[in-house]
Amino acid sequence: MKFLILALCVAAASAAVVPLSADQASLVKSSWAQVKHSEVDILASIFTANPDIQARFPQFAGKDIDSIKDTGAFATHAGRIVGFFSEIVGLIGNQSNVPALYTLTEQLAASHKARGISTAQFGEFRASLVSYLSNHVSWGENVAAAWNVALDNFFFVLTSNY
Ligand code: HEM
Ligand SMILES: *[C@@H]1O[C@H](CO)[C@@H](O)[C@H](O)[C@H]1NC(C)=O
Repeated sequence: MKFLILALCVAAASAAVVPLSADQASLVKSSWAQVKHSEVDILASIFTANPDIQARFPQFAGKDIDSIKDTGAFATHAGRIVGFFSEIVGLIGNQSNVPALYTLTEQLAASHKARGISTAQFGEFRASLVSYLSNHVSWGENVAAAWNVALDNFFFVLTSNY
């Protein structure tokens, strides 16, 4: 099942950046606002679903999620990783912010490429994030479609730099 979802994500990946409509940008922002302070919960759900992602974090590799979830170190990492999305979501829907969106995404690609993180692992991360959103925000076809365009754009820029 997981493989199928990943395969669909790859197949659906866009060949270019597609601007979000004003309505889509506002749906992404309003739904993100419902979970943006659940950083620890989001990262824990991503680790639980993807042990191979957790394994790449030297501080957390091989440890039981319940034993690390409430630590300050985990909160710090969760704040950085989930906070990155808050930064991105804060910028979308405004044409003037497009250069900043590219710069942030290219920097993320560079730092993760240097760590040997694969684009397939980013695909796993994406699938888990969308799954988390679908279970924790007011979700529907329109919200799903808006996130899909936003994440396609993010992944298009990310993977173009891999
Ligand atoms: C869209 C998905 C992701 C986002 C937004 C994200 C974001 C970040 C950010 C902001 C940092 C800290 C700054 C930096 O070093 O660049 C970071 C560090 C890191 N990320 Fe990611 N990341 C993502 C996906 C992944 C994946 C899929 C993996 C592993 C398979 C990963 C592994 C790491 C590691 C190992 C670090 C360093 C942690 C440390 O300092 O010990 N990231 N990530
Ligand atoms: C769009 O972004 C620019 C540059 O960041 C900012 O000056 C402007 O106020 C923003 N416009 C809106 C409507 O948020």
